[in-house]
Amino acid sequence: MKSTLGLREVKSMAKLITGGTGFVGAELARTLAGRDEKIILFDLFPNRDRLEGIEGKVQIIPGDLKVGAEVFNVVRENQIEGIYHLGSMLSVPSDANPWASFQVNVQGTLQVLEAARLFGVGKVVFASTAGTYGLGTTGAVTDETLQRPITMYGCGKLYCELLGRFYHRKFGLDFRSVRYPSVIGPGVRTPGVAQYNAWMIESAFLEKPFECYVSGETKIPVMYFKDAARCTDMVYRAEKEKIRTMNYNVSGVTPTRTARELEAVVKKHMPGARITYRPQPEVMEFFETLRMEEIDDRRAQEEWGWEPLYSDLERLVADFIEEMRSHPRRYGLATSGS
Ligand SMILES: NC(=O)c1ccc[n+]([C@@H]2O[C@H](COP(=O)([O-])OP(=O)(O)OC[C@H]3O[C@@H](n4cnc5c(N)ncnc54)[C@H](O)[C@@H]3O)[C@@H](O)[C@H]2O)c1
Repeated sequence: MKSTLGLREVKSMAKLITGGTGFVGAELARTLAGRDEKIILFDLFPNRDRLEGIEGKVQIIPGDLKVGAEVFNVVRENQIEGIYHLGSMLSVPSDANPWASFQVNVQGTLQVLEAARLFGVGKVVFASTAGTYGLGTTGAVTDETLQRPITMYGCGKLYCELLGRFYHRKFGLDFRSVRYPSVIGPGVRTPGVAQYNAWMIESAFLEKPFECYVSGETKIPVMYFKDAARCTDMVYRAEKEKIRTMNYNVSGVTPTRTARELEAVVKKHMPGARITYRPQPEVMEFFETLRMEEIDDRRAQEEWGWEPLYSDLERLVADFIEEMRSHPRRYGLATSGS
């Protein structure tokens, strides 16, 4: 675009977050907004409530990862220097509609990588998942554990980790990814096998009874949503020379805690919490197949200094409750009167 002086107008560079109004994306946007970065949020279903407090600091561009032209356009028109690619269908919806999941998660990621290549974007960070591990996992998973996912979601994410590695080798793209364990925090509505962790805390806060759909002894690695946003930001900002592994495990709550241990922490804050257990056979079968107890994230620690702020479950639950208390609208908990 030409200015009145006839000079080419220099727009400042921006960061793009796909899925930017989602659960983790909005928290990441909050982090970047705190540094006054220029941020574009690309999302199919923009959730404006989640952006409470930073509305004026971000630009929302509605769009669909499945539509290549929309992805190319948002990158081309906005001087994008880096992409955080978080837009995705999650695990349960992906298994319910694997065909749509392929289009959004796999085809959509290819489009993001192509847009980066064609329009000279310097860096892409991708949100992967511990769900890329599957068959044969027992105990701790390391960055060397064989990735043999059992879900459509895990298959797609694993392909994209490798696709990013290919774009790095073939086209020199600076690609990095983090494999979150199950992310928990307030206001999540998408069903997921691990969501009992979040819903147990949220139901107690809302003074609603909670029937837990796994046994009290069940455990799965989880990460607080603030840590998910933080490790995504950290891996993006890490110096290029430090990135050797490229696709990284990241841990959250350590050691992994059972549902009943979580219940005990919840009851310290809310002694009246009404929690019962009625394990669903199909969910328990999933936990029998996927025996993943701990995430070994030594590479992320060594290469770019990863350390979760909420590895302690007590600290996580206290912050979770405080977030719901202070920002009910942000997490979809506000009643019409509040
Ligand atoms: N939540 C978890 O437990 C978890 C665990 C591991 C990895 N991840 C990954 O982290 C990222 C963020 O997940 P989240 O928990 O914030 O989920 P989320 O569902 O809250 O956010 C995903 C966002 O992507 C958007 N989106 C979906 N389809 C789209 C499309 N076709 N085009 C454009 N946008 C689209 C949604 O509207 C949503 O805002 C995802 O890539 C997810 O796969 C999440």
